[in-house]
Amino acid sequence: MVRSTPPSKTKQISVKLLRWYDQHRRHLPWRSAPGIKPDPYAVWLSEIMLQQTTVQAVKSYYTAFLNKWPRIQDLANAPLEDVLKAWAGLGYYSRARNLHACALVVANEHAGQFPQDEIALRALPGIGPYTSAAIAAIAFDQRAIVIDGNVERVISRLNAIREPLPKSKPIIRSFAQIITPHQRAGDFAQAMMDLGATICTPRRPACTLCPIHSACAAALSNEAENFPRKLAKAQRPLRRGAAFFVMRQSGHVLVRTRPPKGLLGGMTEIPGTQWSEDFTLTNAKKAAPLKARWRQLNGEVEHVFTHFSLSVTVFAAAVPDDSAAPEGCRWVAKSKLDKEALPSIMRKIIAHAESWQDLRSTKVKS
Ligand code: ADE
Repeated sequence: MVRSTPPSKTKQISVKLLRWYDQHRRHLPWRSAPGIKPDPYAVWLSEIMLQQTTVQAVKSYYTAFLNKWPRIQDLANAPLEDVLKAWAGLGYYSRARNLHACALVVANEHAGQFPQDEIALRALPGIGPYTSAAIAAIAFDQRAIVIDGNVERVISRLNAIREPLPKSKPIIRSFAQIITPHQRAGDFAQAMMDLGATICTPRRPACTLCPIHSACAAALSNEAENFPRKLAKAQRPLRRGAAFFVMRQSGHVLVRTRPPKGLLGGMTEIPGTQWSEDFTLTNAKKAAPLKARWRQLNGEVEHVFTHFSLSVTVFAAAVPDDSAAPEGCRWVAKSKLDKEALPSIMRKIIAHAESWQDLRSTKVKS
């Protein structure tokens, strides 16, 4: 199916790329030093965190998790609530629930040892085709085919694949099959990622520094930046909603825990309305969790989820210290909010409300 690179060049690609990797690899906290066997637990943890999340965002979370739970048994023994708290801010929270579920399965059903092949890995919670291939390759040096966005870009350019993504995925996979070496498959996978992240970048790729420049069809015709082609994506729908930030005079904020299943399941939130495409502000205050002198704050809090964009209007109020928490809600000291499993959207809402300088000095309605 892939014709543009002659077979003699495909071997050279992995040889040149591995040589480059030995000199220029990124030093990332989850990577073991050359010649040192990686810890499968650390590889798995990093790969789950890196799903849809940048290397930069993951680094501090990865280190914090390993410090807190150095072995998979430690993570399995932790309450899910603590794992969600430690994950707060990283997004895609179903990953944290699956992480914990996976730790329990590996600790209890596999004697704490990860299975080594892709198929067995894929049977574990939270591990799909990409992650099973990455763990098999990086942790166990299996010849698995690892294809993420970086790899798609590198291969699309190497072959100047004119078919747009996602239709070109099978072509990309078949070429990845051809160039993946039988030895050092884990290093090869990471070398492809590093090349995509540092040289074969989406814009202004540094083709003159690329170790496989001479095999690259797109670079040779000076059009690397035109690949990969992509079908236009459908726009995300916009949902709207309202959130109610209320603080007691003593500095306690009203929060509640979201239902365990679904979007942001089990995380802490500022009480609010449902988020929907047909939400209007008329009557929004009726959804407030308690009676107070609610003020609509200027501006909106925006957030982008995978399947929709969100715009939240924030209402704020101050209440006396003896105000009871409505059913399903609780008061949390403002200084303790960072110990809660607060997703990014809720952190943004709190920051927005805190910029309402007058909150604490506002006359309270008793
Ligand atoms: N993205 C996903 N897995 C990665 C890894 N092991 N190294 C760098 N970036 C990655």
